[in-house]
Amino acid sequence: MEAIKRTFAQCKEENRPAFVTFVTAGYPTVEEAVDIILGLEAGGADIIELGVPFTDPFADGPTIQSANTVALANNVTIEATLGMVKEARNRGLKAPLLLMGYYNPLLSYGEERLLDDCREAGVNGFIVVDLPPHEAVKFRNFCAKGGLSYVPLIAPSTTETRLKLLCKLADSFVYVVSRMGVTGATGTLSTGLPELLARIKQYSGDVPAAVGFGVSTREHFLSVASIADGVVIGSQIITTLSKAAPGERAKAAEQYCTKICGRGNSPKGQKNQVSSNSEAVNGADGTNGAVQTNGAVQVDGPVQVDGPVHINGTHTNGAHTNNAHTNGSVNANGVEHTNGNHSKLPDQIVVEKGEGEDPELFPARFGEFGGSYAPESLMRCLSELEEGFEKVRNDPDFWAEFRSYYPYLGRPGHLHVADRLTEHVGGATIWLKREDLNHTGSHKINSALAQILLARRLGKTEIIAQTGAGMHGVATATVCAKFNMKCTIFMGAEDVRRQALNVFRIKLLGAEVVPVQAGSKTLRDAVNESFRVWITKVDTAFHIIGSAIGPHPFPTIVRTFQTIIGEETKTQMLEQRNKLPDAVVACIGGGSNALGMFYPFIEEPSVRLLGVEAGGDGLDSNRHAATLTGGSKGVLHGSRTYVLQDHHGQIQDTHSISAGLDYAGVGPELSAWKDSGRAKFVAVTDAQALAGFKVLGELEGITPALESAHAVWGAMELAKTMRKDQDVVICLSGRGDKDVESVAEELPRLGPQIGWDLRF
Ligand SMILES: Cc1ncc(COP(=O)(O)O)c(C=O)c1O
Repeated sequence: MEAIKRTFAQCKEENRPAFVTFVTAGYPTVEEAVDIILGLEAGGADIIELGVPFTDPFADGPTIQSANTVALANNVTIEATLGMVKEARNRGLKAPLLLMGYYNPLLSYGEERLLDDCREAGVNGFIVVDLPPHEAVKFRNFCAKGGLSYVPLIAPSTTETRLKLLCKLADSFVYVVSRMGVTGATGTLSTGLPELLARIKQYSGDVPAAVGFGVSTREHFLSVASIADGVVIGSQIITTLSKAAPGERAKAAEQYCTKICGRGNSPKGQKNQVSSNSEAVNGADGTNGAVQTNGAVQVDGPVQVDGPVHINGTHTNGAHTNNAHTNGSVNANGVEHTNGNHSKLPDQIVVEKGEGEDPELFPARFGEFGGSYAPESLMRCLSELEEGFEKVRNDPDFWAEFRSYYPYLGRPGHLHVADRLTEHVGGATIWLKREDLNHTGSHKINSALAQILLARRLGKTEIIAQTGAGMHGVATATVCAKFNMKCTIFMGAEDVRRQALNVFRIKLLGAEVVPVQAGSKTLRDAVNESFRVWITKVDTAFHIIGSAIGPHPFPTIVRTFQTIIGEETKTQMLEQRNKLPDAVVACIGGGSNALGMFYPFIEEPSVRLLGVEAGGDGLDSNRHAATLTGGSKGVLHGSRTYVLQDHHGQIQDTHSISAGLDYAGVGPELSAWKDSGRAKFVAVTDAQALAGFKVLGELEGITPALESAHAVWGAMELAKTMRKDQDVVICLSGRGDKDVESVAEELPRLGPQIGWDLRF
C-alpha cells in the first residue's frame, strides 16, 4: 500500500492528479493483455486497476459487462490475471496495480491463498465492488497483514455514517463514484462532488481521493483534476481497445492515455515513475521509517478501534510513528503488541457488528446467509427501503389497505383435497393450496401488490421489475395499471422467447418489456439489468423484486408479503382437519412461494417442509437449476447464499423446462434452513415435472404451471412414504396456460421418457 501512497504523494509534489486507469484482464485478448497494461503506464497512468472478470457484474454498465464476457470467453481466471501481473512486472511495470472485481470469485479462490499469490505476483491492493462495510473491515484487515491496500468505494448517496466508516477503512486512497449509476463513459459528473470530496477529506484525515465513473475526455479529466487527487478512467479505455485493430491495442491505449493526461511515462517519463515493485514483490510493507509526505493518516502498528472514530480533519503532514498513529484525529484504543516488532504487525480495525454501518432495523442475515453485497451506489436506497418497510410492517393501516384488495386478488385462496391424486398415489392425503386461482394466475401477485403499496408510501412514481417465467412481470404490470404507475419489466431474451404469451400479456397491460441479451439471457441477467437501471433512477423508481432474493431487505420483504400463503393454509387446515398438515411442499426458483408457505410452520416441528428444485436433465448433467441440492455457498445478486458456480466462482448457466425455476441463486433464508436441517430439498427432473403436469391435469382437471408441477411430483413421492391419516399440502403456485406451448415443444424429447404421446 505504501507504493500507492507514494504515488499520490509524488503526484501532489508534481502538482498534478494521479491518473488511475482501469482495464479488464484479458480484454480483448489474453495475448495483448500485458502489452496493454504496459501501454497504459507508458501513456501516463500512475496507477492501474486490473478488472477480474465476473459473470454477473451488476454494478457495471454494458461496456465493462461485455469486456467481462469477452475475458471469460478467453478463459481469464484469477490465476491467469495474476500471471499477467507477474509478466508485466517482469517486463518492467512500475506503477502500483490494484485488482478490481466482485467478491464471489475472490471468495472462491480463498482469501489466504489470494493474498499470498497477489503479493507474489506484484499486486498492491484491491477494490471490491460489492463488499459491505462490515465484511470490508475483515477483508481490509486481512489485506493489511500482507501490506496490501484496500480501497473503499464511496458514492454521492453514501450516508454520513457509512462515509465515516468507509473513510476509516481507506489505507491508501478512496475511490469516489462521481455520479449515480453504473460504470460508463457518459461524461456527466455529479454537481455535489466538491462537497462530497470535502467531507471525505474531513473523515479520512486527508487520505487522497480519486474520482471515477463517467470520465472520458481531456476536458472531463481536467475538471475532475481541479478538485480531486486522482482521476479514474475505465469504460473509455475499454471502448478505445474495442475500436483498435488487433496488434494495435497497446499503442491505442497508450495514445489515449497520453491525450487524456497530457503526459507520458515513456521513455523519458519512466524515470519519474514511483517504484512500487519492491514492496509488492517482497511482500513486506517496507515502510518503517519512511516519511509520508501528504498528510495521509498512516497506521503502521496495530490499531484497534473500539469506539467510533472521530476524525476532525486534522492531519499530520509527514508525522509518523511506528505505533498507533493517533495525533488526536483518530480515537484509537487498545493498541495490541503481539511480537514486539511494531513495523511488522498488521494494522487492525475492529468494528463491532453494525458500528459505523447504517443501523439495521431488522436482521440483514439469516445465520451466515443474506446481507447486502451490493454496490455502494445502491446502499442508500436499500436503507430507505428498509426504513419504509419497517414502518409498514408494523402499521395496521398498511395491512388493512392490503386486505382491502383481497377481492381484487381473489383471496383468501382455496385449500382442498386432491382426492383422485391421493387415491392414485396411495399414501398421505394430498391437499392443494390454490395460488393458481389468484388474479393473474400465480402467487406473484401477493408480493407485487404489497410492494406497490409500499412504493406509493415512499412517493415513488415508476416501477422497475424483472421476471423469469413472466408471472411476476404480469403481476407487476397488473398492479402498475391498477395504480397508474409507469412500468418497465426486464426479461432474459431466452425467457422472452419461451414465455411469449406472458410477454404479450405484460404489453397488453401497458407495460414495457425489455429483453436482456447479456449472459445466459435468463432471469439472472434480467436481475442484473433491473438492478443496474434502478441504480440510475433511485429517486423516482421502486424496484419490485419477484422473489425472496437480492440484497437486504428484499428477501425479508418478499417473504413477509408471501407469508399469507402459509398463514391461510394453517388456518384452513385447522378448520378442515382440526390439525396441522404433516408436510408442506413447494417448488423453488428464488424461493418466494416456498418461504411464504413454510414460514408460518417454521416453529411447528411436526410439519415437514419440502422444497422442490429444478433438476433439469439431472444433477449429474450440469444442466439443472438445483441450487440448494447441487450448489455451493457464494455471493450472488447482493446476498450470500447457495449458488450454482464453477470452481472459479463464476456463476453457471442453468437449465430447466420451467423458466420460473431457471435461476442460479436462491433466497438466503432457504439456505439457512437447508444448513439447519429445518427444511429438506430435493431436485425433480424436467421429465418428472412433466409427469406431475400430466397427472394433475388428467386426475384433477388442473393444468399447473411447470414450476408448480415440480412440487406436484415431489409431493407425490413424499406422500407415498407417509401414512394415509397424514396430510401433505402442495403449494400450487401458478396455473399452466403460459406453459402449454413449452410442453408441446418438449413432448417429442421428454414424452417417451414418461410414456406420454399426444400425437394426433
Ligand atoms: C408459477 C410460479 N411458481 C413458482 C415460481 C418460482 O418463484 P419462487 O421460487 O420465487 O416462488 C415462479 C417464478 O416465476 C412462477 O411463475
